[in-house]
Amino acid sequence: MTDNRTFLVVGAGQAGGWCARTLRSEGFEGRVVLIGDEAYAPYERPPLSKQALTGEAAVESAYLWPPDSWDGMGVELRLGWRVESIAPDEHTATISGGKTIAWDRLMIATGSRPRMLEVPGADLAGIHTIRTIPDIEAIRAQVAPGRTAVVVGGGWIGLEAAAAFRKLGMEVVVVEAADRLCSRAATPATSDYLLKLHRDNGVDVRLNCVVGRFDGDGALERVLLGDDSVVDAAIAVVGIGIVPNVELAESAGIETANGIRVDAFCRTSAPDIFACGEVTSQPVWGRLESWENAQNQGIAGAKSMLDAGEAYGEAPWFWSDQYDVNLQIVGIARDWEEEATRGSAANGAFITFYLTGGKIVGAVAVNNGRDLRFARRLMQAGATVTAEELADPAVKLQALLKR
Ligand code: NAI
Repeated sequence: MTDNRTFLVVGAGQAGGWCARTLRSEGFEGRVVLIGDEAYAPYERPPLSKQALTGEAAVESAYLWPPDSWDGMGVELRLGWRVESIAPDEHTATISGGKTIAWDRLMIATGSRPRMLEVPGADLAGIHTIRTIPDIEAIRAQVAPGRTAVVVGGGWIGLEAAAAFRKLGMEVVVVEAADRLCSRAATPATSDYLLKLHRDNGVDVRLNCVVGRFDGDGALERVLLGDDSVVDAAIAVVGIGIVPNVELAESAGIETANGIRVDAFCRTSAPDIFACGEVTSQPVWGRLESWENAQNQGIAGAKSMLDAGEAYGEAPWFWSDQYDVNLQIVGIARDWEEEATRGSAANGAFITFYLTGGKIVGAVAVNNGRDLRFARRLMQAGATVTAEELADPAVKLQALLKR
């Protein structure tokens, strides 16, 4: 029997791309339409602030799958299209230009956009965000050894950009409003580690500092900081967080709360409408800003659309590469009773575990992805452990999993 249903996926990023592909790989035989407002087939964003920024990798290496493979997969990929509205009762979506598409099930994977800095001069040429391939092309056109870049925001975008600019032989000033780096996702000890790492690599990091205004004649020439200092620079990168693209869902009357509210099966408050990726606020972990979640929730969401879903709710995991450091974090440790460190910063590799009630609630690893993998498995399994054994290099983490 042929399936004449249409499943529409709105948003052709990491989450939407994985969702569309999974609908096919799970055997869906109806129409799959994937609509994205960017000009590019689905791509991954992690390389943008790393190898693509330094020029070590071509931006095209970020594609999820070769752009010409979508046809062969049986996915109708529509790029440069923007869904302006959805009508949940009628089961339709309206595209810019007025075209209407009827769907049987809809996935919203609209992701997020960079938060903008609202200070005078913020629209001058030379001030960039890092979110898309064109962003990187614009920055790459301006970079050169000896030039100065001001990085606003000492979060993940800011720090990865700072490391990339240093690698390109540039001077870098990081302006961070908070009293520590990466405060959204990193523990205070991790923030301290990152501060030392960047200062040791020659970055001028200014904490508790904001931009007062950007100045220049048509293009950026200098940045005036809140502490009254002035930095002469023609390039600035603003990485002060993201805003989820919830407007499409909101205007359709779908429930949102710092993201589109979904259950463990990616179902929204409207029948037949699902959501996945960075735009969602999910049970347990809330809204997750991570590459892995976008992929896995996209896969889980596709299965749910096919009524073959399993509850999704993985602990968040992500990594960052800065200089010769690979940092990995599992969980979002906000409160903990005990901590234990294996290895040491002095030796260049360590892992710190955070525990509550004898269970791991989060871990941070520097150049130690192997132990982080075990920490993750211990955490996911809810294994009971002690700080002493976690800190003792003679105790194999693998063994703790097996007992
Ligand atoms: P973020 O939330 O990680 O960091 C934003 C930083 O900007 C915070 O430290 C915040 O205190 C600071 N800030 C906020 N307002 C400010 C202001 N007015 N002046 C100065 N500082 C200000 O967000 P970020 O770095 O923009 O990253 C965007 C997204 O990309 C996030 O979802 C992030 O997780 C993701 N990303 C992830 C990476 C990774 O996992 N390795 C790498 C790069 C980006």
